[in-house]
Amino acid sequence: MEGQIRKTFVSLFETEPILAFAPGRINLIGEHTDYQEGFVLPASIQFGIWSAVQKNQLPYCRLYSIDFEEEVTFDWQAFSPRKGHWSTYVMGFLAQLQQAGYKFEGFDMVIGGNIPVGAGLSSSAALSVSIGTALSALFELNLSKLSIARYSQNSEHQFAGVHCGIMDTYASAFGKAKTALLLDCRTNQHEEIALDLGEYSVLLVNSNVKHSLADSAYNQRRAACEESVELLKRSFPGIKTLRDLNISDLPQVQKILPESLFPKAKHVISECNRALVAAKALNEKNLGFFGKLLKESHQSLSKDFEVSCQELDFLAEKAWKFPGVLGARMMGGGFGGCTINLISKSKVAPFLEELSSSYTKEFGIIPSFISVEIGDGAHIF
Ligand code: GLA
Repeated sequence: MEGQIRKTFVSLFETEPILAFAPGRINLIGEHTDYQEGFVLPASIQFGIWSAVQKNQLPYCRLYSIDFEEEVTFDWQAFSPRKGHWSTYVMGFLAQLQQAGYKFEGFDMVIGGNIPVGAGLSSSAALSVSIGTALSALFELNLSKLSIARYSQNSEHQFAGVHCGIMDTYASAFGKAKTALLLDCRTNQHEEIALDLGEYSVLLVNSNVKHSLADSAYNQRRAACEESVELLKRSFPGIKTLRDLNISDLPQVQKILPESLFPKAKHVISECNRALVAAKALNEKNLGFFGKLLKESHQSLSKDFEVSCQELDFLAEKAWKFPGVLGARMMGGGFGGCTINLISKSKVAPFLEELSSSYTKEFGIIPSFISVEIGDGAHIF
């Protein structure tokens, strides 16, 4: 892939580029907690986005997407990102640089990648972090990984309309091979957790559905958490987010919140705790217990937070019953995308067969399977 990006750049622009890579991510556990300053446990994967870039001394930028086979040209001193278009991610990042007072000039860029799209592996975070990493090197901006992650997140808020948390861009920027990041989304610091899974492996099962309510429901869930915090502040003075509450606070939280909000707050509070406990289980190589936490996380996301769907529930429930699977749950924002499964390597083949036939029979959709390796975060070649 890397060679192809470089070759395309040289043939289009007749000069050698700087080449950057940023990966997609999985999330082991800690779902819908990042925007409440909670804990998450993501890891960067082997798939990602490459950006080749070089200055062009022109009043405009020329972008080429290998995946869309499309070229876009824009004036780098006066541009407006087009919502929903891949070029938004370049202009969105430039807008962040502009707002922060950084200087840049005209450049050419070629973008291409190999992340399965729509699977919930954060291809847009990878795209943005890849662009940011490339531009930082090109203009010698020395942006920290955290700045790249934050600018990418802000760009998503401003130009893509999803009020996502920091997890995806952080994992893409900071990831490390064979390692998960226990990220505290309040301090934006992480602890490395070695991912030594022995005879087990991480397998994603893509439901190949993405229900259209996903983006609006995401923003609604986030708003519901913020509303809960406002209501809880009277009895829990000093709390800033749901992350400030513990499992032992739940009985009192239940007395205060209306029925529509309590289960959602309960999810966030319990999921923060699960992420911490799960990281400890991984450190202690207690994979059986880790797997149990995956199941609990799914049940909480499905029943309490209500971000699952029948396809994801079906895949998770089948996995729980399958010998050799230690745990499984929906992964990411929800309403489609993948389940993440911790499965014995020796059981992968029969698992694929069983899930393919039963899922296709139930929904008339063929699932796909993605075997994940944990690779390094964003870097320049
Ligand atoms: C999406 C968002 C993340 C996070 C997850 C849910 O992937 O982009 O910030 O909130 O959903 O955990």
